[in-house]
Amino acid sequence: MDRKKAERRAADLLSSMTLREKIGQLHQTGSTMVSALPGIEVDIEHWVTEMLEGRMSQDEFQSRMAMCKEDLRLAEISRGEIGSFVNLYEDEKVAQVLEASYQSRTGIPAFIGVDVIRGYRTIFPTPLAMACSFDLELFRRFARVAKREAKICGVNWCFGPMLDVARDGRWGRIVESPGEDPYLASEIGRTMIETYQAEDEDGPLLATAKHFVAYGAVSGGQDYNTVSLPKQLLYDVYLPPFRAAVDAGVGAVMSAFHDLNGVPCTCDRWLLTDVLRGELGFDGFVVSDAEGVKQCVAHGVAKDEREAAKLSLLAGGDMDMSSWDYANYLEELVSSGELSEADIDRAAYRVLEKKAEFGILDQRYVFDPEKIAKTVLCQEHRAAAREAAEASAVLLKNDGALPIRSQCRNILIVGELAENRDDLLGPWAFTGNKEAVATIPEGMRNCAPHGVEIEYVRGFSVSDDESGFEEALEKCRNADFVVAVAGETAFMSGEAASRADLRLAGAQEKFLLKLAELGVPNAVVLVNGRPLAIGALQENPGIHAILETWHMGTEAGNAIANLLFGTANPSGKLTVTFPNAAGQEPMYYNHPNTGKPGGEFKFTSKYQDVPVTPLYPFGYGLSYTAFSYGALEIEERELGQNGVLRCSVAVQNTGERKGKETVQLYTHDVTASLARPVRELKGFRKIELEPGESARVSFEIPVQSLGFHDRDGKYRVESGEFEVFIGPDSAGGLRDTFTVK
Ligand code: NOJ
Repeated sequence: MDRKKAERRAADLLSSMTLREKIGQLHQTGSTMVSALPGIEVDIEHWVTEMLEGRMSQDEFQSRMAMCKEDLRLAEISRGEIGSFVNLYEDEKVAQVLEASYQSRTGIPAFIGVDVIRGYRTIFPTPLAMACSFDLELFRRFARVAKREAKICGVNWCFGPMLDVARDGRWGRIVESPGEDPYLASEIGRTMIETYQAEDEDGPLLATAKHFVAYGAVSGGQDYNTVSLPKQLLYDVYLPPFRAAVDAGVGAVMSAFHDLNGVPCTCDRWLLTDVLRGELGFDGFVVSDAEGVKQCVAHGVAKDEREAAKLSLLAGGDMDMSSWDYANYLEELVSSGELSEADIDRAAYRVLEKKAEFGILDQRYVFDPEKIAKTVLCQEHRAAAREAAEASAVLLKNDGALPIRSQCRNILIVGELAENRDDLLGPWAFTGNKEAVATIPEGMRNCAPHGVEIEYVRGFSVSDDESGFEEALEKCRNADFVVAVAGETAFMSGEAASRADLRLAGAQEKFLLKLAELGVPNAVVLVNGRPLAIGALQENPGIHAILETWHMGTEAGNAIANLLFGTANPSGKLTVTFPNAAGQEPMYYNHPNTGKPGGEFKFTSKYQDVPVTPLYPFGYGLSYTAFSYGALEIEERELGQNGVLRCSVAVQNTGERKGKETVQLYTHDVTASLARPVRELKGFRKIELEPGESARVSFEIPVQSLGFHDRDGKYRVESGEFEVFIGPDSAGGLRDTFTVK
């Protein structure tokens, strides 16, 4: 709906609402479990912990859950006390919640907000994986499929995209992020928001830029931890994707859990009002992260939840996700005069305005199971997910073993992850359908050329168990080719899944090194959520290839098979640096030089027990073909403040297969008033070339994009010499210089 109309609509509605109803619009909650049997105490949080930590079996968990029933809070919804619902995945229940909201006095439809992180029923690769495609068109296609499936199931608000720049592989949520580069994160965020919110055939879906802000900078990579950040880093690295999101018109922003320089983001007025609204120009509403409001007490800035509600609302936090503090205390805070009704109106207006603008006020959702069944997981959506998966894989090592040669008639797949649908699906896929996932053996059997035998043996898992080694190694010895699948389970990355050790867990590496001794052609397929310290595999000549596949989602098995057989040619490039050891984290390409740049000499900035260079740099990735770069050409070497750097390079496919290459452009401000990163990505182009074909790849980089924020947060482009690099990754490439006047 047109903005002006939406504003009038929101204002009109507001004037007819009671204080309670207004507060209802600021209250987001989910269903709750209640006991179906007398005398049984329900404590799901505790049970989940017990199960995840191995003290309760999954069966026991399931049987306890079977003794509970879900309360959808329909009575409160129809009284107008709940204006927004969180994470409800079952179609029929979504319809019931919406219906209850239509029955309320005001008839204002509820928000159904869901973590549509990687799709709805058809699950695409993780965001970190998809970022490696460097393909914005692919993100557009993904967002269209995710939106269509979510909307047809009644979802009208998506908690994504997640735009946290993440430089530390220990942080579990790196899997949800676009990686370590702010420019790439901004481009991806903009593309997804435009697609979600577009008035296309499926109508707009309200998007959320999260988590505001700098969640990726948590101390030591520990989830929910504190963040200390100088202003210039905040503005140059962590804010840009949110600025791009606001420029793209994002309707909602989710505040982050952590404290930024001592103030929890949930109740930081400077952040949520001065920066977000004042500087970035955001005009939507801010939702807290789950229970973020009440966590202000644990942070130690509010004495109780009542005060937390007051601080958060006054800071500019419009909606309370799951704390119940707005629901419980706002009315009382208005009666006592600590808040004015205008404070409530301001927040409620923002929420209602978005409900109006996104057509939610006028929608009457019609639950149509037949239409849903025809749409979700349809062939077209699965094909898009498969293409995305193929484009997300990164070939890290290959001595020529891949693609698997046609002479290999007897292929053995080993490793528990290869067969585990949950792990191939990966984290943040709660809306997905596990049964629909193609495992690696299934995919290999679907795609194998006629007469090729595919066998699977478990052999090893992420645990310390070595009991299957002998049998599996014996089978490996007799195979023509071994595909060894190693990495992480779905639960090893994601929220609350930080790791202090980035090596392969359990006995995985031990198994792989034994496999390396056999001399049988092999490839390690990695299924994981974060950069791993796998130097031992990289160095070992007995490991012939390493294919990073991340968690690919619904089409994992088919996509991996296509990549291994060469039907698809890997073209992904890493968007996170792989360190040699966890101790090097945070390790990222766009770091300042330091006064003693790391090198061979002892007295330089480095660790003495690992190489100073990363295991694999940002932007790195191989292909089954090869590309060569011609000379770098710069049109004009002296540029004014409003100038544009125009440069180009010829790229040729010198191999024997069609392939895609992501050509990357980096710059470096050589001397400035603040130490600048050694390289910063300023542009990329993904091209596809036939064997022998070449293309000229041109870039136009506005000088105004080459600046930085000073200590006061002021943006400036300083005059002087710059370096420009164009190449296949952040470590190599061609170099030249230009000057800004
Ligand atoms: C917590 C997560 O931090 C956030 O990303 C998510 O959207 C909410 N929970 C809702 O599930």
